[in-house]
Amino acid sequence: MLSCVRWLQPLLALLSSTLVSCGNSCPPSCLCPDHHTVDCTGQGLTRLPDSIPLDVRRLLLSDNGIPWIPSDFLVLYSDLVYLDLRNNSLSRVEPGTLSTSSRLVFLDLGSNNLTEIPSGTFRDSRSLIKLRLGNNPYLSTVGTDAFSGLSSLRELELERNALSGLDVGVLSQLPSLRVLRLEGNPWVCNCNFAKLFLWLTENQHKLPTGLDGMECSLPVDGRQVDGRQVPLSMLSEDSFRECRGILTLTDYLVVIFSGICVSVAAIMASFFLACTVHCFQRWSKFTKSDKDDMDE
Ligand SMILES: *[C@@H]1O[C@H](CO)[C@@H](O)[C@H](O)[C@H]1NC(C)=O
Ligand SMILES: *[C@@H]1O[C@H](CO)[C@@H](O)[C@H](O)[C@H]1NC(C)=O
Repeated sequence: MLSCVRWLQPLLALLSSTLVSCGNSCPPSCLCPDHHTVDCTGQGLTRLPDSIPLDVRRLLLSDNGIPWIPSDFLVLYSDLVYLDLRNNSLSRVEPGTLSTSSRLVFLDLGSNNLTEIPSGTFRDSRSLIKLRLGNNPYLSTVGTDAFSGLSSLRELELERNALSGLDVGVLSQLPSLRVLRLEGNPWVCNCNFAKLFLWLTENQHKLPTGLDGMECSLPVDGRQVDGRQVPLSMLSEDSFRECRGILTLTDYLVVIFSGICVSVAAIMASFFLACTVHCFQRWSKFTKSDKDDMDE
């Protein structure tokens, strides 16, 4: 028993010293103002720093040139609450990167080079309250389930990206949303935009500047854009009545078609009824004459 302890001692010492050094060391060229904060802001980093303490809660990495985050980077930092990656060169967020960050409350991916927010990116980010995705000049695609799972999200920033449209379903996945920034995007006022426009007019109180900062360009013959910008505040539901026209035409077709079906069914039913009545009459006449014959 004693020899066993003696044999284990150096191992335990090594293990505890590694743990302690992991807990206390600060990555080179970063500052660690308190036990849970690592601040590497503006250090010209072109990759993520090594040896970040495992119990980090605030990780500040803004104003660097970090081009990507490996999808398992956050696995070790399960206490992370605040992650600032603003003003880097990120072009994508690998699926699953945030799946272990269920405590993350604040995430800043603004001023990067993101092109797409794929569906499921924030599936496990149920604690996230503020998400900044603005100023990504090539960000043109937001997946239909991109924001599902963000049940606590109150503030979403998508301003000054390259969005020409946005599925309203993406926004209705956010039950706690209070503040939404969408200004400075190249919106196109086509019929797809009509639903978003309706949502925006009904949720104007969530837009910090109302509809004022938002413009859209007018489509020409449905597809091409003629570059003329119209402030959204000058549009009304009526501006999209052509789109409603398309809808009512379909509605009319459905009504006409179901009308025809009902009439055909009614004609067939009455024909069948007439046949039955006729047959019954003939049968009763026949049995009556039979009976008369038998009586004679
Ligand atoms: C972005 O980061 C660079 C350094 O990588 C810095 O020079 C620049 O001022 C930062 N931009 C903003 C808007 O903070
Ligand atoms: C950003 O992305 C665009 C195209 O996706 C590319 O042309 C450009 O070089 C990228 N910029 C940086 C700083 O990575």
